[in-house]
Amino acid sequence: MSPQPLLDAREVTVRFGGLTAVDAVSARFMPGELVGIIGPNGAGKTTFFNAISGVTRPTSGALSVQGRELAGKGPHRFAANGLARTFQTPRTFGDMLVRDNIAFGLKFAGRRPRKYIWWGEETSVPWVLRTPESILGLIGLSAQADLPAAAITPSQQR
Ligand SMILES: Nc1ncnc2c1ncn2[C@@H]1O[C@H](COP(=O)(O)OP(=O)(O)O)[C@@H](O)[C@H]1O
Ligand SMILES: [Mg+2]
Repeated sequence: MSPQPLLDAREVTVRFGGLTAVDAVSARFMPGELVGIIGPNGAGKTTFFNAISGVTRPTSGALSVQGRELAGKGPHRFAANGLARTFQTPRTFGDMLVRDNIAFGLKFAGRRPRKYIWWGEETSVPWVLRTPESILGLIGLSAQADLPAAAITPSQQR
């Protein structure tokens, strides 16, 4: 049996009025894979990213995140199922400690080991991703935990 994709996008189409920005795109992304999407200006890259992270609702098509059908659901549902969007420009809270920035993100994404009222238990989130301390260890920023976020480099902020 082949491993389950982190994200399986099938025939994803996004239209803005008469303009088809994303035309029936299918792609599979496996855990641990690093994938680049290239194309000229206006090709539909950003629209596709928005669609596969719940920011934009696809006009049609299916998005399965670790086996859950999420097309049409909000970004928080994607995040809770392990698919998050990052942006080119880091948007940290500069006055807050590095650890508190991560704690805020955890709260926002709902990645706590508890029962969810609407969508069941979040058993798929590895323990290492559930506390600021373990996340800081994973990304190699434990020593910076008690600095204000503005004091670390932009790539560390990202
Ligand atoms: N919110 C929107 N409303 C209408 N048209 C849009 C919108 N967003 C993007 N487009 C159009 O969709 C096409 C793809 O844009 P985009 O996804 O930003 O391309 P890329 O990121 O590859 O440069 C372009 O023709 C763009 O003008
Ligand atoms: Mg773009």
